[in-house]
Amino acid sequence: MKTLQRTLTIIKPDAVRRNAIGDIIEQFEKNGFRILAMKMLQISKHQAEQFYAVHASRSFFNGLTDFMSSGPIVVLALEKENAIADLRKLMGATNPANAEEGTIRKKWATNIEHNAIHGSDAEDTARFELSFFFAGYELAK
Ligand code: CMP
Repeated sequence: MKTLQRTLTIIKPDAVRRNAIGDIIEQFEKNGFRILAMKMLQISKHQAEQFYAVHASRSFFNGLTDFMSSGPIVVLALEKENAIADLRKLMGATNPANAEEGTIRKKWATNIEHNAIHGSDAEDTARFELSFFFAGYELAK
């Protein structure tokens, strides 16, 4: 039996500023992801620190959370078979210098900090990240 999986993605402030929302969402749909829920919002520095708490000890944490709270973002709950790994493949490497041709980061990311898109990296982080942005009723599809 095929098992559907859910993942959380964020179109980051740099990609929103560059009018890339439509292009990135088109990539999700063309690659078989179902959009379960979606919203545009701006998070505070504190909210960014909570979301990225796993990186709190890293040297880039302050810059990352400043950037993620610097402007509007679009968050989406996506569903497909193997959604977590497939989304990460579609996004490309975290550092766009290493991203493959045809990936979202190859097209839209500027550097490792301003890298256009985030995607959950495992089932437990997907659960945390989906529940960070969406209430249960919003995902009850
Ligand atoms: P993301 O997938 O959102 O998860 C954590 C983010 O931290 C990552 O994308 C990058 O944008 C950022 N990041 C990871 N490593 C570095 C680094 N060495 N310097 C700056 N930012 C980084």
